[in-house]
Amino acid sequence: MRILVADDHDIIRRGVRSLLEVQSDFSICGEAVNGREAIEKALELKPDAIIMDLYVAKSSIDGRLITALQKLRKHEAYVDPDITQEGSTLLDVEEILQRSLAFENALVESEERFRSTFELAAVGIAHMAPDGRWLRLNRKACEILGYTQEELLKLTFREVTHPADLATDLAFREKLLAGLLPQYSMEKRYVRKNGSIVWVNLTVSSVRDSENKVKYLIAVAEDISKRREWQDALKKSEAKLQHLTGNLERRVAERTRELATKNAEMETQTEIVQELSARLLQAGDEERRRIARDLHDSAGQTLTAVGLNLAAIERETKVVAPDVASTAAESRMLVKQLIEEIRTLSYLLHPPLLEESGLIGAISWLADGITKRSQIDVKLELGDEIGRLPQDLELAVFRIVQECLANVYRHSGSKSATIRLNRDSQKLMLQVEDEGRGMSPEQLRALQTSGCGVGLRGIQERIRPFSGSFDIQSDRHGTRIEVKFPLRRAAAHAN
Ligand SMILES: Nc1ncnc2c1ncn2[C@@H]1O[C@H](COP(=O)(O)OP(=O)(O)OP(=O)(O)O)[C@@H](O)[C@H]1O
Ligand SMILES: [Mg+2]
Repeated sequence: MRILVADDHDIIRRGVRSLLEVQSDFSICGEAVNGREAIEKALELKPDAIIMDLYVAKSSIDGRLITALQKLRKHEAYVDPDITQEGSTLLDVEEILQRSLAFENALVESEERFRSTFELAAVGIAHMAPDGRWLRLNRKACEILGYTQEELLKLTFREVTHPADLATDLAFREKLLAGLLPQYSMEKRYVRKNGSIVWVNLTVSSVRDSENKVKYLIAVAEDISKRREWQDALKKSEAKLQHLTGNLERRVAERTRELATKNAEMETQTEIVQELSARLLQAGDEERRRIARDLHDSAGQTLTAVGLNLAAIERETKVVAPDVASTAAESRMLVKQLIEEIRTLSYLLHPPLLEESGLIGAISWLADGITKRSQIDVKLELGDEIGRLPQDLELAVFRIVQECLANVYRHSGSKSATIRLNRDSQKLMLQVEDEGRGMSPEQLRALQTSGCGVGLRGIQERIRPFSGSFDIQSDRHGTRIEVKFPLRRAAAHAN
């Protein structure tokens, strides 16, 4: 409802204005200070109601005035009971002035409150004309923009907005002015007087008059430069991190590739070494066969001849030179011993007839031979179900038994040796045990860690292709070598 206020008291006019402007359904469309002006304005503005020559009754006017206007809007009459009451007294001028003064004070106080809120706010607040001129700015707004109030009042917001943000701001503002938006918010940059940039979070809303025309805009700006700085720093360090991560991933990939290549090279080399050592073992087998034959055929025969010669010397000198005869007899005994040793050694070196007699047959043959030719009683403890095994496994097991017995013969001083061979569905197990002098703990440790000694290392080499295991135990009561072959793999290897 549009209202014209006509009163010669400025205080009354302002009082009515402040009373009605807080009511959303009433707006003051004009003021007049006398009757003539009231008529002119009434013709020009065509208000819905005119408040004129307001009498202030004893009770307050505000409630009554609003009630009166509301009645009026519904085309009903309103009669103030104070005025119609018989005997009611109108206030004297003194009282009117007193009441008006109180009105005025309240007004000043509320204006003061508004001004200090406006001025002391921690955010920048500005009132702006629809054309972009600033009407009023608080201290914080001036501080954010880096200009004085006077300087800013001569500028428009366009002149201090960062060129990159102007188009967005103008587009929003247009929508706001057209009533398409109740308000808008955006993060934007201003260029301060000293050329530096300030980031703000801006919220703009409009204040409209009773005809819905925009009276002015209220802009609230919060300085977010610090936050933007942090965000930028965060973005930069994120980018850096991404760069680093990318680098790291690339390097890890490169390194992985290098390692894979090296690994492949090493695997090839391991295969070559394993093949070489297999060939060496094979060559060793052949060499042993040759040496065994040579020892038996050549050295053995020669020594036999030497023995015969010594027997002849012994016989011839028995009478003429008994000393020579006894030396010859001693030498003949030594030669005999030597022949025995050479035979045993050649026996130990000799390859078996594995293919024909099988593993059990070959081991029995070896054990018998050694028992007969040396002082060692070789006992056999064989499981029932051993049967035939893959050919290469049989050869490996036989060579291991041979090496172990050679060690018993050469190093242990034992009078006996036991060979145990057993088999179940999972594995084949071999033990060779003696009751000799054994090894010192240091020697055993050295053997277990570095595997020194060609013979024992050879045993381990023979086990490796079958993924078998090797264990050696030794103390002053004897030595025990234990070897296990997993059977499914042995079979797979053999195939
Ligand atoms: N049954 C055993 N009793 C006591 N000592 C042993 C026995 N077997 C091996 N040894 C000790 O372990 C060492 C290493 O044995 P290995 O069979 O590896 O080498 P080697 O017998 O000395 O030489 P090769 O077997 O190459 O002719 C031997 O020198 C010996 O001192
Ligand atoms: Mg040996």
